[in-house]
Amino acid sequence: MMRVMAKRLFIALEFPNDCRAKLAALAQPIPGVRWVAAEQLHLTLAFLGNVDAEPEQRLKDHLAELRVPPFSLRLYGVGIFRARRRTALWAGVEDDNEGLWELHSEIHRTLAEAGIGWVSDSFKPHITLARVKDAPVHKLRFFLKANRSRGLGMVGFTEFTLFSSVLNPAGAVHRVEQRYALVSR
Ligand code: 2AM
Repeated sequence: MMRVMAKRLFIALEFPNDCRAKLAALAQPIPGVRWVAAEQLHLTLAFLGNVDAEPEQRLKDHLAELRVPPFSLRLYGVGIFRARRRTALWAGVEDDNEGLWELHSEIHRTLAEAGIGWVSDSFKPHITLARVKDAPVHKLRFFLKANRSRGLGMVGFTEFTLFSSVLNPAGAVHRVEQRYALVSR
């Protein structure tokens, strides 16, 4: 029997075009910094790693049952972190946004209920803007200082998205598997 390949899945928020444009406009030419393309910018809620076809379908069924209301989120500032053996520049979001945290915890409750494992990272909501490798420190400092507390606008979310990610030498390609509406209870 032919085995269907597992997909590398993650759940994320997508941004409207005006917001993508604002985030993408932060990009500036710094050697060693690879900026994420505007259409690929997202905020990860859960990274699931490789999931086989049967649990993927179970996951989709469970996610369709989820009831979390739409919410708005303020995007704010930039920073840098080192995680998973890579360094990334990120844009941040306001602390303690109730809607975002409710969605995050409901998704994780749903994953547990569906018996789907996820790669545990404590949740530090962020939008990865760029990957950094051997970049000149003074240029990074300048970027961070100039944008540390920059307001990046308010964005309303009415859905969340299950993505698959295919790793290529030129970078990951993300594909929308399914979108789920946020709905008032
Ligand atoms: P990032 O937002 O910090 O770049 C698709 O790869 C998404 O899943 C990316 O947004 C990425 O995080 C996140 N991701 C990839 N590998 C991960 C891991 N091992 N743990 C947590 N999140 C991961």
